[in-house]
Amino acid sequence: MSKALGYKAFGDASVQVFFDRQVPVPGPAEVLVRVEAAGVNPLDHKLRAGHVSAMNGHLPFPQVLGMEAAGTVLAVGEDVTGLAVGDRVTGFALTGAGTYAETTLLLGTSTARIPDALPATWAATIPVAGTTALDVLDQLGLPAGASLLVNGIGGGVGIALAQLARDRGLVVTGTASTAKRDLVTATGATFVDYTEGDVAQRLRAQAPDGFDAVADTVGGDSLREIAPLGRTVISVGDPSVTEVGGVAVERRVDRAGLERVAELMVAGKLDPHITGTYPLARADEALALVESLHARGKLVIDLGL
Ligand SMILES: NC(=O)c1ccc[n+]([C@@H]2O[C@H](COP(=O)([O-])OP(=O)(O)OC[C@H]3O[C@@H](n4cnc5c(N)ncnc54)[C@H](OP(=O)(O)O)[C@@H]3O)[C@@H](O)[C@H]2O)c1
Repeated sequence: MSKALGYKAFGDASVQVFFDRQVPVPGPAEVLVRVEAAGVNPLDHKLRAGHVSAMNGHLPFPQVLGMEAAGTVLAVGEDVTGLAVGDRVTGFALTGAGTYAETTLLLGTSTARIPDALPATWAATIPVAGTTALDVLDQLGLPAGASLLVNGIGGGVGIALAQLARDRGLVVTGTASTAKRDLVTATGATFVDYTEGDVAQRLRAQAPDGFDAVADTVGGDSLREIAPLGRTVISVGDPSVTEVGGVAVERRVDRAGLERVAELMVAGKLDPHITGTYPLARADEALALVESLHARGKLVIDLGL
């Protein structure tokens, strides 16, 4: 059996439940992994709430939280290539298998080996925040010296975007709340506090000609306020970005992207800024913090704790 945190119905955090599940058996395209660390993401509570039931509405309850994990391969499906039992890996649990658990299934084509030097806690943040930031920057294709405004720079995706953009020679500005000033400026980005009144006006004062691009991680009214400042606008979380002339990020979720982000971490170009590690027994606390919408950097469940 394998301990897991899941939910017995769609709803708020009160539907969450710790339970023992059978160790899953990998299908032909999957690998079974002993989880060493799992990333905590906003999509986890959105899935639990039933807000994206096209993704998980067909799965039986209890469902298990979590969509990314790093760990060691225990078994490999017959169609999976390039992975073997004993490999240290990171990847996506796109099958709905859930990663807030001692063991999980990852999709073979969305799972990559990780370098020995990379701690599992860092590797567990690669699939969602890491490769989303990579996809945004690849899609924008900005030249060195271009200006980028990251709306919501203090969260998991934002803090990765800040560092990977700087590595490409972009000039980065980011919005966040007061307490994130040091976190943001440490990445070399210019910090703009969105809690201090008319943020669009203050950004305009700083960049009268606007920004070459706006990368949005917040969405909603905040995106609408900020979008006119960018010659190009891309959003990672709000598909209505098209209504303000922008585009949604196109996600690749492939092995090559995972490997590229792992290399950037090992090269010292990307620190996921893990601000909290939680044992599985306290995974609900980590998710509650993300659900507060004001998480700082990344939160990770560490099965070694
Ligand atoms: N398409 C994809 O594949 C994909 C992948 C990853 C994430 N996403 C989506 O992208 C969004 C962000 O994900 P994440 O992992 O970065 O979330 P996160 O780690 O929970 O961070 C959210 C951040 O938003 C900031 N924030 C909230 N309101 C803000 C505002 N008005 N202005 C500026 N910042 C604000 C918060 O910081 P403050 O405390 O400073 O407010 C917090 O740091 C979520 O909606 C997620 O579902 C999509």
